[in-house]
Amino acid sequence: MKKYVIHGGRPLYGRIEISGAKNAAVAIIPAALMVDGVCRIENIPQISDVDLILNMLQSLGANIRTFNRTTMDVDCTHIVNRQIPYEDGRKIRASYYLIGALLGRYGWAEVPLPGGCDLGGRPIDLHIKGLTALGAEVDTRNGYVYAKVPDGGRLRGAQIYLDIASVGATINIMLAATLAEGLTVIENAAKEPHIVDVANFLNSMGADIAGAGTDVIKIRGVEKLRGGEYSIIPDQIEAGTYMAAVAAAGGEVRVCGIIPKHMECITAKLMEMGVEVEEEGDSLIVRRSGSLQRTNVKTMPYPGFPTDMQPQIAAVLSIAQGTSVLTEGVWGNRYRYVEEFRRLGAKIQVEGKIAVIEGVDHLTGAPMEACDLRAGAAMVIAGLAARGTSEVTNISHIERGYEDLIGKLSGVGADIRVVEVPDPERAAATA
Ligand code: EPZ
Repeated sequence: MKKYVIHGGRPLYGRIEISGAKNAAVAIIPAALMVDGVCRIENIPQISDVDLILNMLQSLGANIRTFNRTTMDVDCTHIVNRQIPYEDGRKIRASYYLIGALLGRYGWAEVPLPGGCDLGGRPIDLHIKGLTALGAEVDTRNGYVYAKVPDGGRLRGAQIYLDIASVGATINIMLAATLAEGLTVIENAAKEPHIVDVANFLNSMGADIAGAGTDVIKIRGVEKLRGGEYSIIPDQIEAGTYMAAVAAAGGEVRVCGIIPKHMECITAKLMEMGVEVEEEGDSLIVRRSGSLQRTNVKTMPYPGFPTDMQPQIAAVLSIAQGTSVLTEGVWGNRYRYVEEFRRLGAKIQVEGKIAVIEGVDHLTGAPMEACDLRAGAAMVIAGLAARGTSEVTNISHIERGYEDLIGKLSGVGADIRVVEVPDPERAAATA
């Protein structure tokens, strides 16, 4: 067990290089299951969610070779198994992509019901509705999703309307439909940057997908996909997290290797709060010297303000002048971090999906326990802004989605380090 120890109150200066997008990587790696041949995938982030997905592919028989830190050859030509081990699949949300990929290529899949961050109910009814419309028989029992194409045939294209613009359902249906017979149309599709990235990956391997990034995606099924090379887009949320860190702690940091267009929803809110953001090629220079001003934020599907930046922006609003209203528009329960922020002196009242944040002059360091990935990142931001020493425990949540968080923050002058926490059981056994 490890924890972060942060001595806060130091402004950040320098540059931070952004890694490949987690939520694109955890979909593109399963998508390689559908390809006959070798997929060379570049810009893969080194995070534990990616390790889990790679382990699952290997358990199916995929051959994976790592070249340098971020490039891998994934060869799924000789898959021997189609059932994902329960303990692996349930740890991570993105294991649901294995259903669409295996079903599309092999006609059957057995995948544990997915886990992931606890953000309130996380049903997969829309995934099942879509896959069923494509002709699959899907059954959930004993913690598993069992999906198969009857009579060992191929899935058939269909018109699918999503009641909610779900990221996961859009990608899963897109995966399954890629090798189906005929045309699939997804209406009210999600438009997040990683949806476009998965479509681009599949198209570069021979798929025929149009409209990704809009409300309507059209997938014309092809017979097979062939190997190729693809580089994953930079992580919008990782970049946003560091932008929020500079906003909260002050200073000037160049956030590099990003797609500024993907950052607009976040940039706009930070600027409203008095943060200066300047675009220069594939970088944003983020500067905060004066005080922060209140604003209201509502999370929404892309191109709205991302729910995955909600806890981080709450950390910034906690020290802005005035009272801000934060509305969670995607998840049922994404305010579990508020209790931890209060330990630092933040004044936040939560009523259902709304948090009212009364900005305080400063936060004061305290111990916090990460309850999920983005909440954990937000606690780090709060700790960087706070006076004195903070600790964040349960950091495995954070390691799921942030590559080298300590290295990147130390590189811009943050005083943050990882400390081993003695395992209480082992300590008791040796006492
Ligand atoms: C993806 O989750 C991301 N995860 C989440 O990021 C992100 O918060 C979310 O999209 C929204 O942007 C990955 O990409 C691996 P959804 P996903 O399906 O696909 C409801 C992070 O921190 N819904 O778009 O699970 C659902 O309850 C993680 O990186 C149904 O009702 O999200 C929610 O209210 C956390 N039925 C809304 O739709 C369904 O079948 C959006 O969920 C599916 C979803």
